[in-house]
Amino acid sequence: MKGLKIVSTGRALPAKVVTNDDMSRLVETSDEWITTRTGIQTRHFCESETQASLATRAARGALERGGVAPEELCACIVATVTPDHAAPTTACLLQQRLALPENIPCFDMNVGCTGFIYALQVARGFLLQSGRPYALVVGAESLSRITDFTDRGTCVLFGDGAGAVVLTLEESSLYACTLGARGDAKAIFIEGPGPEHPYIHMDGQRVFRFAVEAVPHCIRTLLEETGLGLEDIDWFVPHQANKRIIDHVAKKLRVPNERFYQNMMRYGNTSAASIPIALDEMVEQGLLRKGQKVLCVGFGAGLTWGGTLLEW
Ligand code: UT7
Repeated sequence: MKGLKIVSTGRALPAKVVTNDDMSRLVETSDEWITTRTGIQTRHFCESETQASLATRAARGALERGGVAPEELCACIVATVTPDHAAPTTACLLQQRLALPENIPCFDMNVGCTGFIYALQVARGFLLQSGRPYALVVGAESLSRITDFTDRGTCVLFGDGAGAVVLTLEESSLYACTLGARGDAKAIFIEGPGPEHPYIHMDGQRVFRFAVEAVPHCIRTLLEETGLGLEDIDWFVPHQANKRIIDHVAKKLRVPNERFYQNMMRYGNTSAASIPIALDEMVEQGLLRKGQKVLCVGFGAGLTWGGTLLEW
């Protein structure tokens, strides 16, 4: 089987850093509550940046680091719930800004916080049928734009940012993917365009219960499919929604927390961007080495879930 390989990564965060104390000046909350309930300490909010400008920076970084030229790409996919425009898509803006070729598909995907995982599998499909060697997948969000800063139950959780990967296929390389959805219109929703400001709404406890069930389910499915055990996985890279979700999952699976990469303390929940941002940080820190087995797992609005197991 031709496995999916991550050739290179990139990320972009807005310059403005917002602390928990800053949030406590907006709503009735505290650094103590946010830190203990979520693990989040700071997040970045766009000021001059836009979702598309973050996506562009992250994508450019990944292409440059991989030494990949635009004409070598077979697809450009952006996973997002917060594109700057309903149309054109952020992927088409990237095409223009990065001078990507015209004869490739460029489109956005909305699968909530699971978008990046879905996009990897879709990109693999394009790689399999294309003569070109690489695909570009970006997760990019500007959630501060749809945050209700009077709702303390959601506004302290989210942050803005973008992460990008350049992908290729490698013969006989490990690869497995699991994707799923459970139609649920209440757990997380964002209004569509209309007279109301499109705020994000979430039933936090409902999503929490879903997450601690969906994440182990994804992990077990991928392990069953590949015949691997938990001990074979070098890194688990989960969606960064809440430290307590990750700790709960690690405990349930009896895997040391240290094998679950965490960075929500710096960025909050950046939805579809959280996993590619984490991967880029891990590359920068020298945590990912050739041959390591990396399992990425996401969950979010839809409700949706997804996992990818690949070899670095
Ligand atoms: O990426 C999409 C996926 N999203 C998620 O994974 C989110 C999953 N859910 C969660 O992470 C957690 O449910 C939250 C962090 C959202 C909330 O934590 P919780 O422990 O489930 O709190 P809760 O909703 O049960 O609220 C407990 C209390 C309530 O007060 P009362 O009713 O007990 O008096 C809330 O009003 O905490 C209160 N509360 C706050 N207090 C201070 C809620 N938000 C805040 C806040 N500051 N920011």
